[in-house]
Amino acid sequence: MTFVSDAKLVELAAEYHTPLYIFDEKTIRQRCNDLKQAISYKNHHIRYACKALTLQRVLKIVRDEGLWIDASSINEVDRCLLAGFDPSQIFYTGEGATKSVYSYLIEIGVLINCTSIDQMRLIGSIKKNHYCSIRVNPGEGHGHSNKTNTGGPSSKHGIYYDQLEDAKVIAKELGIKIIGVHSHIGSGADLGHWLRIKDKTLEYANSFADLEFINLGGGIPVVYNPETDKPMPLNEWGAALSASMEQYSKEMGRSIALYIEPGRYVAAESGILLGEVGAVKSTPEYNYAIVNTGMNHNPRPAMYGSYHPIRFIPRDGRSPGKEKEYVIGGYLCESGDVFTVESDGTLAPRKFPEIKVGDIMVMGHIGAYSHSMKNEYNSMNLPASLLIDKNGVASLIERRGTLIDVMRREIEVIPHKSRKHYKD
Ligand code: LLP
Repeated sequence: MTFVSDAKLVELAAEYHTPLYIFDEKTIRQRCNDLKQAISYKNHHIRYACKALTLQRVLKIVRDEGLWIDASSINEVDRCLLAGFDPSQIFYTGEGATKSVYSYLIEIGVLINCTSIDQMRLIGSIKKNHYCSIRVNPGEGHGHSNKTNTGGPSSKHGIYYDQLEDAKVIAKELGIKIIGVHSHIGSGADLGHWLRIKDKTLEYANSFADLEFINLGGGIPVVYNPETDKPMPLNEWGAALSASMEQYSKEMGRSIALYIEPGRYVAAESGILLGEVGAVKSTPEYNYAIVNTGMNHNPRPAMYGSYHPIRFIPRDGRSPGKEKEYVIGGYLCESGDVFTVESDGTLAPRKFPEIKVGDIMVMGHIGAYSHSMKNEYNSMNLPASLLIDKNGVASLIERRGTLIDVMRREIEVIPHKSRKHYKD
């Protein structure tokens, strides 16, 4: 939360309006570098899980850092191609992709990671003797919330590990080469789970004759709340992966590539969301500060009870007043639109120096899964996005939304040939 001074934030809020997303190039580059340095195994590649934050400028920075891509939709693939990635650098994992999606991916040369046996059949129906990777559900998962845990018997993701023999049989029938085995057990997984799943994935993969790579997914956690969250010991993690892969390649008698797909780790700390206090009020139980943004611009607290660091800059330059407990509420007509909340919906007030109308709220660590999960509920305009470049210069990378944007797909407002009153 420290990449711009408070004085500059006040200036930017005045110039660009709030709510406002601000992203920091240096932080993104730093996180890419942390990852590159942690893994010494030569035959590896880091694929940015671009669902975390998919802005063009961010994709271009990540590309410049030499990362490749994990994509989960055709539009993500196209956004990455627009940012200059080559199709061969993109890996596609999507539950329930359709034939037209797979046909496009095969045509342009994007590697498909099949998440079910039916999706292997889909490849077979499009192209004979093709190749793919398969996503394995290793029977257990881990994440910061059960909504982000993607392994184990309750998860929809991947092919359950006890059905891998079936996958091999189908692959043989269809002439499909399985060249990679992938697992992603969840977002926000700790070191212990990571390493255990790495071992399981390597074990499952060693019976695949055409194996060229192992993909261990993403899930590296970041510290949102320094009082409760533990950082991933990145060097220990990287050293363990590297040692295992050296050994594995030796045992397999050839070099097997290692891929990982971090999203949150690359992007989370690079972003802040600015809002402005519109009202301060109280009930017999709580003090509320209401800001002009909400779960439409960062759905994470409402969805998972996620903690984001929040502070306020006094707009009138006063020195901090006495601390009080506040619940920070958004501006939507929805009770659950609060930023300080537990995962079961219990309000979690936090202490702040006295908050006044007009103060600027700075919410930190919103780089991952906030901008990319934003929506236009209550027909609210989407915020503009700024990038602070590596020289510290702020520029607009996405303009603020308007009513036209909110209504852009409605037939009533789209000129259409069949409508008499619209002439082309
Ligand atoms: N690979 C695959 C196949 C994934 O599905 C994901 C995330 C990743 C990699 C990247 O995971 P990461 O390194 O970011 O943890 N909306 C939730 C997170 C959902 C993650 C979905 N898949 C949140 O805000 O916490």
